Amino acid sequence: MDIKTFGYLYYKNRGFDREQIIKEAEITADEYDFYEANLKVLLQEIENEQPRAEYIGAEFVRLTRYIYSEPSDQEKDLYRPAAVKPRQGEVIALPDVREVIKPRLTLAEAIATRRSLRKYADLPISPDELSWLLWATQWVRDHRSNEKMEITLRNVPSAGARHPFETFILGNNIEGMEKGLYYYHPINHELVVVTKGEEIAAAIYEGCFRQEMLRTAPVVFIWTAIPYRSAWRYGQRSYRYLYLDAGHIGQNLHLAAEAIKGGACMIGAFLDEQMNTVIGVDGEEEFVIYIATVGKK
Ligand SMILES: Cc1cc2nc3c(=O)[nH]c(=O)nc-3n(C[C@H](O)[C@H](O)[C@H](O)COP(=O)(O)O)c2cc1C
Repeated sequence: MDIKTFGYLYYKNRGFDREQIIKEAEITADEYDFYEANLKVLLQEIENEQPRAEYIGAEFVRLTRYIYSEPSDQEKDLYRPAAVKPRQGEVIALPDVREVIKPRLTLAEAIATRRSLRKYADLPISPDELSWLLWATQWVRDHRSNEKMEITLRNVPSAGARHPFETFILGNNIEGMEKGLYYYHPINHELVVVTKGEEIAAAIYEGCFRQEMLRTAPVVFIWTAIPYRSAWRYGQRSYRYLYLDAGHIGQNLHLAAEAIKGGACMIGAFLDEQMNTVIGVDGEEEFVIYIATVGKK
């Protein structure tokens, strides 16, 4: 779903009239007529689901209490999920994390100076700095694998060491690298090209509701969640952990960005359908969970 379709559905569902929807959703009269004629089924579906949607938060917390849990797939001896999803493509090496100079900033300074940074200097991020940010957020420091379990340990905590995330990097201004979308392999500490070119950045800007920092950030981090990696062990309760785990990544990114005289802004306001399409995931087995822009002060 693109941002215009979303705008139409959003304002329509809130009872706005034709003129208001055209204005607020920034669509033409023709586009409005097209949506009126073609999105009836979708509108009906939203209307039907609305009563459930209104209470889903409390319902989710209530029904993910342990008393409702069934034996998990791990307890049923079902085969373990992979700790990292295999991806094919052109590989781009990153500076070795053991050799990247770790910036010196005290923890107290990093914590005290951290702010959400939405305006960036027109400066690139170097491969060393990118390597540092990835080290802090998702790099795998220990990997253990056998028939029963595949475990990674990273610089952030994760419930049961499930680490149910994949990292994508939108490089708008990284020294020596073409603009484009890259996948980060956390065990090999390397990037894999997803798409080169500038078009993907425009689609991500739209997918993040045209938030201005998406236009100027040299780097955008996009994390997807693969819920089964965690659900295999924790069933439906694992969905609580996805969002808790993601928060730790965000904070490490914030602190690591401070250390390179930069800053980050976490992004939770994005169009799920658009972002999942851009990244190429189905929205269920894997979906975009968290986004962050990073740049220099
Ligand atoms: C889960 C989460 C989602 C957020 N989403 C957005 C966002 O979409 N756009 C934005 O400008 N800021 C976003 N922020 C940043 C918050 O607005 C910011 O942390 C808050 O205003 C406090 O400011 P500070 O981070 O400078 O202390 C998000 C922060 C968090 C933790």
